[in-house]
Amino acid sequence: MKFYELSPAQRRAWLAERGIKLDEIDPAILHELDHLSENVVGQLRLPVGIVPQIVVNGRNYIVPMATEETSVVAAANHGASLFARGGGVEAVAYRDGIYGQVILQVDENFKVADLEQAFPDLIAQTNDYFASLVRHGGGVRTITVHQQGDLVYLKVLIDPAEAMGANRANAILEYLALKLADYAGVVSKLFAILSNYPSQFTKAEVSLNVKTVGGIATAKRIALLSQLGQDDPYRAVTNNKGIMNGIDAVLLSTGNDTRAVEAACGVWASHHGKYGSLSKWWLEGDLLVGQLVVPLAIGTVGGSINARKDVQENYQILGQGITSSELAGVVAAIGLANNLAALHAIATAGIQAGHMKLQARNIAASLTDNQAERAQLVKELVDMRIYTQSAAEAVLKQIREEK
Ligand code: MEV
Repeated sequence: MKFYELSPAQRRAWLAERGIKLDEIDPAILHELDHLSENVVGQLRLPVGIVPQIVVNGRNYIVPMATEETSVVAAANHGASLFARGGGVEAVAYRDGIYGQVILQVDENFKVADLEQAFPDLIAQTNDYFASLVRHGGGVRTITVHQQGDLVYLKVLIDPAEAMGANRANAILEYLALKLADYAGVVSKLFAILSNYPSQFTKAEVSLNVKTVGGIATAKRIALLSQLGQDDPYRAVTNNKGIMNGIDAVLLSTGNDTRAVEAACGVWASHHGKYGSLSKWWLEGDLLVGQLVVPLAIGTVGGSINARKDVQENYQILGQGITSSELAGVVAAIGLANNLAALHAIATAGIQAGHMKLQARNIAASLTDNQAERAQLVKELVDMRIYTQSAAEAVLKQIREEK
């Protein structure tokens, strides 16, 4: 029997024979996970935290975020509460489609103009064949072509409706490639595969009175820091990492493909010819304006989304029936919220102050359930600027002795 043919329990036994003992796991969960990947033996747990309120296009959302990094949910929450004071985020999701490529090898009998004339017919045939996608509002939208020597590149724009659409796009592209193989001068179809090139852009924007961030001096520092992100790739990549902290956490919690979005955002960050920030903050009179434009090839159905109970719980939190455009707006809004929280912290007390306070809270929570003790312990650790477990234990002992 091949390894992949073993059941998850047999694979765990195989590890046990080699002295590797895994934690207990509910067999039902293991069975569910076994359908999502290969050679499954266990699960990796991540905390899911929530931002209890972010206002996007006038609507309140509760947003689940899956991340193991401390401060990320707190930062998103801080940003979201600042946004609420400015009336919330305006977001627009342009869900015009994802790209796919078909690459053909041709000889001298091939005429690119003839092939172009056939595109409307080809699109109609493909959309007939993939009728269920069309019924859901999607389908092939456009095909464009260019030739370089004996290679012909076709770029196909596919509207995946409410799904992210990777599998469907690949099926469509392979179908198209088969049809194209019959055209005059086509020697062979080389590749047919979707492209993760930036598409499905979402723009999130906020306008905040400078008082919201503590006044004009702080707002100016935030705008300056943002400008640095445009000019200096070392700062830009860190700025973008902070944005992706929020974006990835919402994508993970909603069963979306973080790798596809990360890859596209990396390309998009260089679209001015040099790597730069995905976000921009600037002053307009007494307003601090922030904008984030990101490619979000995401979905609310398809892939593993419907099959995963943990993911479905998160859709309950977000609001069942949320559309992919609405989710994209929420994702971009959270990315912008994480960004503002980071810039605000850096422009004021510095990033470590907030992190350390959270660290003190986490240590205190692990040592005592008594709220008064916790509050005093956090205060003393922050005052002393010492955030180790042993120091916290000593301080707690002292607090108890003094009582
Ligand atoms: C840390 O995970 C993210 C930040 O470094 C982002 C930033 O510097 O903008 C705080």
